[in-house]
Amino acid sequence: MVVNAPKIPVPKNKVNSLLPFPLEKYASITPNISDPTAFTANVACGEPNHSLIANLRHAPIAPPSATTIYGFMKYPKITPSINHTQVLSILGVIMRLLFLTTNLGKVAEARNFFQRYGISVDQLEFDAVEPQASELEVVAMSKIEQAAAFLQDSEDMILVEDAGLFVDSLDGFPGVYSSYALETIGNHGILKLIGHLKSEDLVIDSNLRRAEFRAVAALYKDGEITIGEGVCPGRISHDVGEGEGFGFDPIFIPADLDIDGEPIPFGEMGHTSTHGRQFGVIPLEQKQLYSHRKRALLSLVSKLDFLG
Ligand code: IMP
Repeated sequence: MVVNAPKIPVPKNKVNSLLPFPLEKYASITPNISDPTAFTANVACGEPNHSLIANLRHAPIAPPSATTIYGFMKYPKITPSINHTQVLSILGVIMRLLFLTTNLGKVAEARNFFQRYGISVDQLEFDAVEPQASELEVVAMSKIEQAAAFLQDSEDMILVEDAGLFVDSLDGFPGVYSSYALETIGNHGILKLIGHLKSEDLVIDSNLRRAEFRAVAALYKDGEITIGEGVCPGRISHDVGEGEGFGFDPIFIPADLDIDGEPIPFGEMGHTSTHGRQFGVIPLEQKQLYSHRKRALLSLVSKLDFLG
């Protein structure tokens, strides 16, 4: 697996400022499979050999000067590990992602998520037709097809993300109708609908009020669409907790997480917990530990070869 980055010539002075050895003019970078944020830089140092030349030539965007400069000489290869952000800053590559959403809360979460990959996130706004579908994935695919028509720079990527709150006792309502429900009955309306579901016993109470956020993220790049899905289980609180959150955040309490960041059943002691506080009242960084959107984006990124 090779990322896009290695296919671009690396200015010698930039690499020299980061690496503790002399080198010639190019580096190729390979993602580290066990750690998506780490990369190995295969830096051309000394004289080139056949395999690196072949590698550079087979890259989809082979540096035009690579073949001329390296010819068919020999050279040793040095493989220091540098992280993705360093690689992108070396290469001067900033990938741009246009996020089709009217929701600035989502833009903030996506920026927070993608900055580690050296990807800038800009908001893309237009009146997308919202298809009447019962699946988040169908909605996301339809929006991405509409948004692709607006792409001005073919290097840019488009992100669409559709999410919803699914309340067990309401047969998944509001689900794909979440925006509509929020605008009409709002958080207080949801609390009213399940107001009769309560118990002194916290585990019973939590199970009665069980709900989950689901998100589907779809990314368009070079004519291809990749989909990632994420779920955040939890429960509906008894009151509305105000803070920096948006949408249904004020009434949603995420399930605790185990040491690996995976949700655990109600009543078990979690390694990570909001201690009964809603998404709406905890800071964004803390919400990111649980977020369905973050899970959908992670699942998406794991399928993108160019990000490892
Ligand atoms: P959409 O995917 O942006 O259409 O979201 C549907 C509805 O769910 C909107 O009203 C959002 O405000 C709400 N929503 C989506 N994600 C979240 C979240 O992370 N927290 C709270 N509400 C959300």
